[in-house]
Amino acid sequence: MAQEKNMAVPQLLSNVELVKQGAEARVYRTEFLGKPTIVKERFPKRYRHPVLDQKLTHRRTVQEVRSILRCRRAGISAPVVYFVDYMSHCIFLEEVVGSLTVCDHIASTQQSESCQDQELEWLAQRVGQILAKMHDEDVIHGDLTTSNMLLRRGPEDPESNLVLIDFGLSYISALPEDKGVDLYVLEKAFLSTHPNTEALFEKLLKSYTASSKKSSAVIKKLDEVRLRGRKRSMVG
Ligand SMILES: Nc1ncnc2c1ncn2[C@@H]1O[C@H](COP(=O)(O)OP(=O)(O)O)[C@@H](O)[C@H]1O
Ligand SMILES: [Mg+2]
Repeated sequence: MAQEKNMAVPQLLSNVELVKQGAEARVYRTEFLGKPTIVKERFPKRYRHPVLDQKLTHRRTVQEVRSILRCRRAGISAPVVYFVDYMSHCIFLEEVVGSLTVCDHIASTQQSESCQDQELEWLAQRVGQILAKMHDEDVIHGDLTTSNMLLRRGPEDPESNLVLIDFGLSYISALPEDKGVDLYVLEKAFLSTHPNTEALFEKLLKSYTASSKKSSAVIKKLDEVRLRGRKRSMVG
C-alpha cells in the first residue's frame, strides 16, 4: 500500500526533462496543471543510515517550503509552491521562466567586451536589499551563493526581478551571529566564484547595511567571523 503511494510521483517524473542532478537533489522541468513547473526531488542517499537519511531529507523538504512561504508572505520573491509530496520528498515549484542564475549573469557580464560595471552594481545593490529584507524576517538561507539567486528577465518591475531559491538548509533565527555567518558564506562563495569582485561585494554589503534595520549587529558579527576564519587559516 505505502509502496504504491510512494510510486506515484516518481513515476510521473520518469519521462520529464532533468535539469540538474545534484548531490542532494534532482531538479526536473515539467508542467503541472498546465503551468511551467520545476520539481525538486530529494532522493535517498545510500551512504547514510536510512533512518537518519529519511529524517534529514524530510527536514530539508519542510524547511525549504516553510522558508519560501515565509519569504513570499513578506514580499520577497521566491518561487510559488504548487504542491509538495512528503512521501517522495518532491517539491513542485513555479518555474521562473527564461531566468538565469545571478552566477551566470555576473560571469557573462564580466566576459563581455563592454563590461557594464553599473549594471553589476545595480544588481549587487538589489541582492543587498533582498537579503536585508530576508534577514529582517529572521530567515537564514543557509546556502547563499550566486547560483541560488535567479534573475527573471523581462520588462517587469525591478522589485520582482531577483528571485531567491534553494532554501533546503534554511532556518529561522533572530541571532545577528546566524545572519553574519549567512553573509560570510555568501562572501566566500562570491569572491571565489567571481574574480576581482571585492568592490562589488562591498557595494552589496553597503546596500544591506542601508536596508536592514538591524544591520549594525550583523556586520559586527560578520567582521568577527571573518577574523575567526583568518585565524583558522593561519593555524591550519
Ligand atoms: N523555480 C525555478 N525556476 C527556474 N529554475 C530553477 C528553479 N529552481 C531551480 N532552478 C534551477 O535549478 C538549479 C538547481 O536548483 P536548486 O534549488 O539550487 O537545487 P540544488 O540544491 O541542486 O542546488 C538552479 O541553480 C536553477 O538553475
Ligand atoms: Mg542550488
